[in-house]
Amino acid sequence: MIGLGVMGRNLLLNMADHGFSVIGFDKDTQKASSLEAAATAGTTVKGVTSLEQMIQQLSQPRRVMMLVPAGKPVDDVIESLLPLLQKGDVVIDGGNSHYTDTLRRVKYLEEKGLHFMGMGVSGGEYGARTGPSIMPGGDKEAYKHIQPLLDAISAKVNGEPCTAYMGKDAAGHYVKMVHNGIEYAIMQLISEVYDLLHKGAGFDNDQLHEIFKQWNEGELQSYLIEITRDIFLQDDPETGKRLVDVILDKAGSKGTGKWTSQDAMDLPIAIPTIDTAVAMRTISGYKAERVEAARLYPSALQPYSGDKQALVKQAGDALYAAIILCYAQGLAMLFQASKELSMDIPLQDVVKAWRGGCIIRSTLLQDFYKAFSSKADLPNILLDASLANIVKEKQESLRAVITTAVAHHVPVGGLMSALAYYDAYTTERMSTNLIQAQRDYFGAHTYQRIDKEGSFHTEWGNTNK
Ligand code: 6PG
Repeated sequence: MIGLGVMGRNLLLNMADHGFSVIGFDKDTQKASSLEAAATAGTTVKGVTSLEQMIQQLSQPRRVMMLVPAGKPVDDVIESLLPLLQKGDVVIDGGNSHYTDTLRRVKYLEEKGLHFMGMGVSGGEYGARTGPSIMPGGDKEAYKHIQPLLDAISAKVNGEPCTAYMGKDAAGHYVKMVHNGIEYAIMQLISEVYDLLHKGAGFDNDQLHEIFKQWNEGELQSYLIEITRDIFLQDDPETGKRLVDVILDKAGSKGTGKWTSQDAMDLPIAIPTIDTAVAMRTISGYKAERVEAARLYPSALQPYSGDKQALVKQAGDALYAAIILCYAQGLAMLFQASKELSMDIPLQDVVKAWRGGCIIRSTLLQDFYKAFSSKADLPNILLDASLANIVKEKQESLRAVITTAVAHHVPVGGLMSALAYYDAYTTERMSTNLIQAQRDYFGAHTYQRIDKEGSFHTEWGNTNK
């Protein structure tokens, strides 16, 4: 392992716990020397500060993984490894690299007889140590050399490992990128429902904890609902308030959500809820302007006066529907990207790997797994009959919750975009006939007709009316 930051170190110790002899390299002497002390007794772990020393001790084909910051550090590691490796060795990048970088590196190392694999790892530091979801992609022969290791260290659901081969070239990093896009969207939806229940309906943190606790015991059971449940109870030692109430409302990001939106635009494929989630994090950054705007546009809003328990039930159903719609968008993106970039991404294995260990794990993944088991090339999970029944039933709550939020000036762009996606996707005849007419009117861009084949242009405006 090259890079003994929290993720690299934890992943390496996890490997050792499963009986693999491991060696970790870091330029930082402290990180390298403290590795062995952190290992479980009886495991074979070594920490070194010399790359040569590490490579010499590996059996062939060598399996070298790196967990370093995305971008130039990955290229630097590759360059320093090149003189030390031999044909057939496998280099794995376990960080959040952009897939186009991975594609370039796969080709670069291929020319040198080396295998380069891009691998998504999800689950944070705790997941890395105890069982993450792992998304490897690249050369299938090279994958065989690391499969037993990945199977062993990943999370397990029903005894099955939460890892699988994600496809050719940069498929591993592509799948992880879309995973993060879905992560952004679900986090946005949860925060909107929180806003409505907290600011709109006046539920306090203890009540919100109870609501999320109940949700997590039902169909909404998922990692993100679970941690949100716990967040409401965390105290701030400095102020004695709940920590969530003293955290500044400015969301950070490292870019993976943005990459998902950018690539979706290029394909093109519609992922409006992920796009909205990215946009809302951006708007959250305009803190000073928002403070000024809030003074300029004060809202004389009455608190929610309806049946609060009914609203909670509706909000849970709305969240459930909207979350399914987020996964639908992300998985449809993978379906399309897999074809466009010839990655052969097996969607059934993707949802299988996402069932445990990762940030977007939820009981819903089991339903998606079933859907892809009956039809492996499902272009959109909304076309699965069982899932359609669920969404049909819950979408009324999504509409009702959005209506309540709008009336109370609570911004719910994520929920709205999920509903708009649903309404457009399930509409046989959209309003885009008018757009086609406009395009042809001002730019002679032509249009197709519903009653005959071909491409048509009209000299518009000669209506005599
Ligand atoms: C995971 C996470 C992880 C990271 C996010 C954070 O799957 O374990 O996605 O990779 O925490 O990339 O992303 P932002 O900083 O952009 O929110």
